[in-house]
Order: sequence, then C-alpha cells, then structure tokens
Amino acid sequence: MGCDRDNANGFVGVFDSGVGGISVLKSLVAELPGEDFRFFGDSAHAPYGEKTVERVRELSHDIVERFVADGAKAIVIACNTATSAAAPGLRAEYPDLPIIGIEPALKPATEAPDHGRILVMATDITLRLDKYHELAETYGQGCEVISVPCPGLAGRIEHGDLEAADLVEMIRGYVGSFAGTVGSVVLGCTHYPFVRRQIAEVLGSDVKFYDGGAGTARQLRKRLDEAGLLAPAGRAGSVEFASSKDTPAELALYREFFGYEL
Ligand code: DGL
Repeated sequence: MGCDRDNANGFVGVFDSGVGGISVLKSLVAELPGEDFRFFGDSAHAPYGEKTVERVRELSHDIVERFVADGAKAIVIACNTATSAAAPGLRAEYPDLPIIGIEPALKPATEAPDHGRILVMATDITLRLDKYHELAETYGQGCEVISVPCPGLAGRIEHGDLEAADLVEMIRGYVGSFAGTVGSVVLGCTHYPFVRRQIAEVLGSDVKFYDGGAGTARQLRKRLDEAGLLAPAGRAGSVEFASSKDTPAELALYREFFGYEL
C-alpha cells in the first residue's frame, strides 16, 4: 500500500461530492502553494446531501481508501455533508493520517460585530447531524440563527451554467422570504460560494458572507506543520483533478470552476 504519509513530498487528497470542493481547493492552494493537491469530485454520486448518512459514509470511505493506497500524506474533506457524516469514522480508521474536515463558519459569523440575523444555508444532512447542533449550541447563543436546508441547489450547481436565470429563481425559493432582513449568510455547503452573487441578488447586496474555506486551509497548514509534513519552502506545488464522472467534459467543468473568482 505505497503510503507516503512520512513523506513531505507526498500529496494532499481533497474530495467532495462534486464541484463544490473546488471552492475549498482554491483556499488550500492560496494558503499552501508549495503542496501537491489531488482533487476528487464524486460527481457520479452527487448530491450527497440527499443520500442516507450511511451511503455518504460508504462513499467517503471508498474515496479515502483510494487516496491512502495512492500514498496521500493528508486528506481534506472539502464537503460539509461528508465531514458531518464520515469524519469521526475515518479518523478512527486512519489515526495516523491528518484528516481535516470543514464545518459551517458559524464561529466567525457570530463573532463579527453587527452580524444581524444569521442565515445558514446547507444540505439537509449537515443541518440534521450532531456536529451542526453542537456548533449552534456553542456559538449561536444570543444570536438569531436561521437554518435553511437547500435540497437541489448543490445538484443544480453541478450542472454549471451559473449565470442562467433559473438559478436565481431557485435561490429565491429557499431564502426569498428573508430578503432585506438578514445581515449575514453562512455558506454551509462548499458548492454555495460559487453562487454568492446570486444569493446577494436575492437577499440584498450588503449581506456579509462566511464560508469555511480559509479556516480549513489554515487548519491543514497547522496539521501538516505539526506532523513535519509541510512541503519544503520555495517548492512549486501542483493541482490534479479526477472525477467519478470521468469524462473530458466533466474535467473541463472542474477546471472552469477552479478558474472562477470567489
Ligand atoms: N458540497 C457539499 C457540502 O459541502 C455537498 C453537497 C451535496 O452533494 O449535496 O455539503
């Protein structure tokens, strides 16, 4: 099982149900440009948020098993849904492997001055599982936090064509009733940073957005540093894309998402 976990030149495996994790990958590359990242999007099985928790665990397990077999030195679960469902089990299974998950950025949102009413947009699984309830319990005290599951939104983003009018109308269906009454939005699904502008179009242009990408990248740096696994300074890193929907068109879509300004 050629494992490079002791090797600072090994790669970091990053995965999501699909294109969403590319929003996190962008933060990872910005924070750690000397690392080699291999991104796997499970687009053939997206969306995860509408599957059973058990199925999300199985799919996540299979992806991490392959990354480990290929010699990953660390894993980033660039998916709030998979982190909530599968991170504890994966960490128990691979106790020596740094496994970094992502969570809805409620902490920075609630700590910001004048945060106003806070809307958390995420998948149904993320909002249902313990991790989110613990976060809301810890950071949501004294704040008005409204959790809005958005079934179908990640699946729609998977299809690209983000400027199409149907996307704004879809978002209006989930959060339109909060227009003008919300100060902050937590993007609790890694697909949603790609439609920040469309969400602002519905809720108001002065709404502040929070997502977990930058925090996850800082956490990866810390864990690699602690384990002595940071790539040598000055090294040029790389990014590779793979998908369970392994067609040239899908991989071209991944590169298109990687090129978006967030
Ligand atoms: N991007 C994922 C997340 O952060 C999952 C979306 C989905 O596949 O439903 O939750």
